[in-house]
This record gives sequence, structure tokens and C-alpha cells, in this order.
Amino acid sequence: MPAKNIDELIALSKRRGFIFQSSEIYGGTQGLYDYGPLGVELKNNIKNSWWKSVVYERDDVEGLDASILTKQSVLKHSGHEDTFTDPLVDCKKCKGRFREDHLTDKKCPSCGSTDLTDPRPFNLMFKTNMGPIDDGSSFAYLRPETAQQIFTNFKNVVDSTARNIPFGIAQMGKAFRNEITLKSFIFRVREFEQMELEFFVVPGTDEKWHKEWVEARLVWWENQGVPRDSLELYDVPAEELAHYSKATVDIMYKFPHGVEELEGIANRTDFDLGSHSKDQAELSIKSSVKENKESNAKLALKDLDNNWVVPFVIEPSAGVDRAVLAILNEAYNVESVDGKERVVLKLKPHLSPIKAAVIPLKKNDENIVARAKGIKNKLQSLGLGRVLFENSGNIGKNYRRHDEVGTPICITIDFDTLEDNTVTIRDRDSMEQKRVNESDLEDLFKKLF
Ligand code: GAP
Repeated sequence: MPAKNIDELIALSKRRGFIFQSSEIYGGTQGLYDYGPLGVELKNNIKNSWWKSVVYERDDVEGLDASILTKQSVLKHSGHEDTFTDPLVDCKKCKGRFREDHLTDKKCPSCGSTDLTDPRPFNLMFKTNMGPIDDGSSFAYLRPETAQQIFTNFKNVVDSTARNIPFGIAQMGKAFRNEITLKSFIFRVREFEQMELEFFVVPGTDEKWHKEWVEARLVWWENQGVPRDSLELYDVPAEELAHYSKATVDIMYKFPHGVEELEGIANRTDFDLGSHSKDQAELSIKSSVKENKESNAKLALKDLDNNWVVPFVIEPSAGVDRAVLAILNEAYNVESVDGKERVVLKLKPHLSPIKAAVIPLKKNDENIVARAKGIKNKLQSLGLGRVLFENSGNIGKNYRRHDEVGTPICITIDFDTLEDNTVTIRDRDSMEQKRVNESDLEDLFKKLF
């Protein structure tokens, strides 16, 4: 039963340490959130799962971690300086500012007035001063998408790996947008993370690859616990396409506030490599690009007939924060057990922030505590994620807390353990408890994760 109400997820996130409002002790900052002790684990697990599926499990993708601060020339030639805008209107009555395309009936959402200014383009990129002089002449942009530095590193990656198309470059990391309308908790924020793949293909094979990537991404979302019937595909109509795109399919998710974009998969054609290239006239670029006199590289490859080919690009681009929201929403369940309410996060085990809690039944018994610590250390050393030595509260409270944060198993050590080397394993979803040999724990753990 997915959460009906975003407030339940916000409350759980704060109560258990997943997500906090940024700068909360100073009244908070709109559109900025901080990930707490469990949030950072969940986020890392999602990113690792993406990296594993996009880089490690394939033989045609390389990774990259480029700088966030981005030179102006990059975002000038990418088209972002001219076109990365939203239409902004002011309400003349209450002085509120809104995105025109988010208004219903052309009315101010704050006061209902229809007395609005004409829309004007508002660039979403953040600028920051770079270097010792603060006169506005030497600035950098905070990247609005991770993609651009993948394109600017295209030649570096090809030269250092001897790759030929089709192949991809993957990158995860922060992106920044000065959004006008913030929305629904971490859904639309000003600082967020993206998981982006730029997959370079032979022109003419781009539509086939586009379809393949849409399918591959749907399978990945299902493996993260977001079922196919919570997802919809949206073919973005021509008038809504970004300036670089020939076709985009959005994977839409039923968020608590409505059906909205979770990931976009765009066919960016040869626009980006073409735009960032020198000597464009020699390259027979198919998309319409602006002249580039600043770049010192041809971002193209030679084919077998010695002709330059500018690869087309298929780009699956997912938001990490939206992934966190969708995955939490799917996992969140409220059940009734013996007339009492149980909140349980049924996260896929590979995403759980804590993989197992090891609980000594008597927290003052030296032998039991030492045994529990030994088991924790052994399981921790397998490198499969965080294992917590849990020595607070009573056993019932521990189970309740670990249900709420999605810990798949609790392992309890008691007096019998000291006698017969067995422990109790309690399963989060079924709440069943069984006795197993301590020596079987490692195999059991490896199987589960
Ligand atoms: N490189 C292509 C690109 O950036 P996008 O559709 O603008 O395309 C890709 O963004 C993904 O990044 C979106 O599907 C969404 O998951 C996430 N995203 C975009 N803007 C966001 C924001 N303001 N807050 C949170 N996530 C955002």
C-alpha cells in the first residue's frame, strides 16, 4: 500500500533520520534538503545499484566524475545560456512570482488575481564568482545537468580507453537549478543529484538504441521495487522537447502528489558533440548548431572509410532524489498487527540503509554482548553494507524501529547462543522468527544481499 499522503513520508523521514530541511535551525531554506544517517545510506545504495547496472554489468560503458563548477563557454555552446529558461510571471496584486506554464486559468495561485505581467524568460542556472576578483567578470556556472562535462570529456575518454561507438559514459552527481516553483518535498528542489548516461551510437541506429534504453531503464526501476504498474511512459510532444532533443520518452511515476517525471530518456542526436566541436564544417553535423570558435577539439570519430562521424547520443537521465521519493513511497506500508499499527518499509534488501541489526538480548551480560559484537564484525567485514550492533531499548522496540527503517533482518543473541551456537533471525516482512546456526549466518547474509 503506497503512501497516500506525502506528509506521512516527510514525518517518517524526519523521525528516523532519512531527510531533513536544510538549515532548519535558522528557519530552513526552501528547495534544499539534507540527507541524514539513513538517507545517505539509502541514496548511496540507489546510486551504487545504478552504477552497477549501467557500468559494471555492461562492457560498453565507462565512468566519469567531472567538476561541478563549469566554464561559461561550455554552457554557452551547449545552448543553456540561451534556452535553459522557464517563463516567469509576476502577480501585480500580491507580488508573487510563478512559472506561467504551471498556472491554471492564468490566475495567481496565491491570491487568485488575474492581473499578471507578461511572461519573460528566466534562466535557471546558478552563477558563482571564481578567483580573487569579485567584479562579475570571472564567474563559473554550477552545472544544471551532469551531462555537459561528459561531452567535453568525450575525446579524453576515447583517447584513454580506445573506445569506439557504440559505447557510453556514465556520471552521477549534483546538479543545480534556480527553480521558480518548488514542489512536493524532494521532488523539485534547487540542488539535486542526477544519474546520467550518455550513450554514443552510429547515426541511423539511434532510434533502435533509444527503444532499448527505455526498456532497460524500466527493468532497473522494477528491480528497485518500483513496479511497472506504478510507471507510465510519456512521449514528449514536439513543442515540449528540450532544445537538443529529437525525441524524449519520460518514465512517469505515480508520486503522492500526482503522476510526474521520474526519468527522461532523450535522443540528443549529434547536437552536443557537434556544438562543442571545432571545424564544424568538416564534420557534416546533422542538427542545427551554432558556430564554435572556442573549442580546440573535434568531437568526432573516423569510420572505416576515413570519414568523420559525429556520434548520436541516447541519454537516460534519472534524478536520485526523485528515486528516493518513489522508492520510499513504494516501500512504505502501514499494517495492523494484533490490533496495533505497524509501519514497515519493505525496501529491497540491496537498498536497505541497515542490512541487519545484531541485538544482544541482555545488554548487561558481558558474554552475550561480546558474542553479538563478534557477529556484527564478521558480517560487517563481508562488505555488503551497514550492519548495526544494536544495544539500546528492549527487543520489541528494536524490532519496531528496524521495521520502520527497512532493516531486512534482526539477529538476536541470547543465553542459548552461548550454549548451542544458534541465533534467532527475525524477518522484517513476515515477522517470522527462526533459529539458525551461527556458522550459517555468512552464507545466509550473502544470499540475501
Ligand atoms: N541531462 C538531461 C536532463 O537534465 P531533465 O529532464 O531536465 O534532463 C533529468 O532532468 C532528471 O533529473 C529528471 O527526470 C528528474 O528526475 C531530475 N530533476 C530535474 N530537475 C530536478 C529538480 N529541480 N529537482 C529534483 N530532480 C530534478
